[in-house]
Amino acid sequence: MTEIALVYFSETGTTANAAKKIAKILNVPAIRLEAQVPYTSADLNWNDDSSRANEEQGNPSARPEFKPLKIDNYDTLILGYPTWWGVSPRIIDSFVESLNLMGKTVLPFTTSGSSAPERGVAELRKLLPDTLVLDGKRVNNSSEAELKQWLRSNNIA
Ligand SMILES: Cc1cc2nc3c(=O)[nH]c(=O)nc-3n(C[C@H](O)[C@H](O)[C@H](O)COP(=O)(O)O)c2cc1C
Repeated sequence: MTEIALVYFSETGTTANAAKKIAKILNVPAIRLEAQVPYTSADLNWNDDSSRANEEQGNPSARPEFKPLKIDNYDTLILGYPTWWGVSPRIIDSFVESLNLMGKTVLPFTTSGSSAPERGVAELRKLLPDTLVLDGKRVNNSSEAELKQWLRSNNIA
């Protein structure tokens, strides 16, 4: 049986909400990835070129630190994040680079104002050449049935 870990990053609760629905379907814990230095609302202001989130997203090598978290054994990592400037937040890069994902599978999901998931997934694939990064899904308004169908179509659940 496939062992699953479900980890998500969420600053304003939208991705957390989806992560909890997925966790319930799979009966696994939803593990929150948190920044070592919490983001303030000023840090998240995308209208301010010099806000923390904008500076991080503008710098492909930014690697914000995260609080240590405990994940059990897994073959498939289900990874959730908000889309920031078309891609995943740099803290996701920090996190995936800290893992040994060689030979493992990552199933991404995202929430966004409107952006589609593909660019973020393409960036993850570049970062993880030895990992099977499956197509991602934007889950803002996904019903439980839709989430189940998505998981099933990826041979999970
Ligand atoms: C710094 C920043 C950049 C963002 N960039 C985008 C974007 O490029 N496209 C988009 O559709 N939404 C963008 N958003 C909106 C978020 O993706 C959206 O609100 C998301 O659901 C937030 O998830 P959370 O509540 O889990 O943090 C951005 C938000 C922030 C804070």
